[in-house]
Amino acid sequence: MTHEEAIQQLQDWSLQFTGRQQRPPAVYFLTFGCQMNFNDAELIAGVMHQVGFSKTELVEQADLIVINTCGVRESAENRVFGQLGRLKVLKENNPELLIAIGGCMVQQPQVAEKIQKSYRQVDLVFGTHMIDQFAELLCQTMQQRRLVCDIRADNLLPAEGLPRLRSQNLICSVSITYGCNNFCSYCIVPYVRGRERSREPQHILAEIEQLAAAGCKEVTLLGQNVNSYGKGLQPAVDFADLLARVDQIAGLERIRFMTSHPRDVSLKLLQTIAAARHVCHQLHLPMQSGSSRILQAMNRGYGKEHYLDLVRQIRETIPDVVFSTDIIVGFPGETDKDFADTLDVVRQVRFDSAYTFIYSRRSGTPAAEMTEQVPYAEKQKRIVCLMNLQADISKEINQQQLGKIVTVLVEGPSKQDANMFTGRTAGNKLVHFAAKPEQIGQLLPVKIEAASSFHLSGSLTGKAAELKR
Ligand code: 5AD
Ligand code: SF4
Repeated sequence: MTHEEAIQQLQDWSLQFTGRQQRPPAVYFLTFGCQMNFNDAELIAGVMHQVGFSKTELVEQADLIVINTCGVRESAENRVFGQLGRLKVLKENNPELLIAIGGCMVQQPQVAEKIQKSYRQVDLVFGTHMIDQFAELLCQTMQQRRLVCDIRADNLLPAEGLPRLRSQNLICSVSITYGCNNFCSYCIVPYVRGRERSREPQHILAEIEQLAAAGCKEVTLLGQNVNSYGKGLQPAVDFADLLARVDQIAGLERIRFMTSHPRDVSLKLLQTIAAARHVCHQLHLPMQSGSSRILQAMNRGYGKEHYLDLVRQIRETIPDVVFSTDIIVGFPGETDKDFADTLDVVRQVRFDSAYTFIYSRRSGTPAAEMTEQVPYAEKQKRIVCLMNLQADISKEINQQQLGKIVTVLVEGPSKQDANMFTGRTAGNKLVHFAAKPEQIGQLLPVKIEAASSFHLSGSLTGKAAELKR
């Protein structure tokens, strides 16, 4: 079946459904994990919208449930299995309901098998390489009336030009690479997302131009390792070149990107960021560990001193840079001394923020086979210690903003307090302030009056901002 045939069949199905039920069929999305999964969900939402489905926020009203899973840590997988248990009840009440599950977790053959055997409520298991063929797979599921599982890995880029139903127009993300070639020894991603491949620059630029024309002010360029963008493309292009071209797009105010691998940060990239008009002075630079011995076992391609030198070089080129990082505690063989090295780098670098993770054993990765697994209680102790240290540092750094005026892109009302609005600084710090709905989408100066580890708050002011942070 071609893509066009699948679209036609789904459109016919959805018209008949609408005639019968006096409402269009509804799709509900349950998305776990990183931004890549949210992007995949928006692509599937685009196709479902094209064939006549409406999107619902109420799972009980769904005729189709699409779950995008994460396999990076075991805790994320357990949450999905818990959800599947809950959805079983919905399926019992509504046998017509279709449940489709995709993402990194089900790309692992043993997980796909477990779902087929033990989670009979699932109708479709689709792999990470099948996003652009979701319509075909859904048709097949409807016709066969039995579980369809397709987790083939073709290692191609998703087809260009698919419709995409974005959750918002103001702040958008755009994938520039798919997959990863780094094979960090703890990580499942290279196995479930395949080899790294880069989108053609003209496709990326055309997508961002369209977004900017539709009101997008901030774009994040996404990839597992954006710094290696462009490998294999003709004519030759690297990430710095791409960034410089995105910087020229009219209407965009802010450009971000993630994730950067410390091994692939070049001076050219740093100089491009410093010279650009709209590229935020912000870098997410996962360090993973501060111990050279553990970094080597992780296959990261750098050691403690290299990381510290890199941070120094980045601060020389971009003095007001805002740093965030990822850190894993309890990697196999991590001793108290190795952990002390991690704390030492955290103290020396003084990251603005850090995402901290307890090492999770992922079967199929080299680290899962390592014999010296760290006991859970020890990992727990270390993560608490690390989080406390980082929270103190984040608070101290944020408190330096007190009394200063920062430029904030107004995003919308705060979830906690309808009278307060939220926005972010160029450095990606969350700010709360009172504003009016008509100010959404504007870049406005806010005077900072309070600061904690995780956010700032203040008031809109007429004065010009002092800092790019
Ligand atoms: N256990 C814990 N954390 C992990 N990450 C990746 N794999 C694992 C794992 N097996 C973390 C890394 C990465 C982030 C996205 O998730 O820190 O940068
Ligand atoms: Fe995983 Fe390492 Fe690739 Fe990041 S760079 S996705 S941590 S293998």
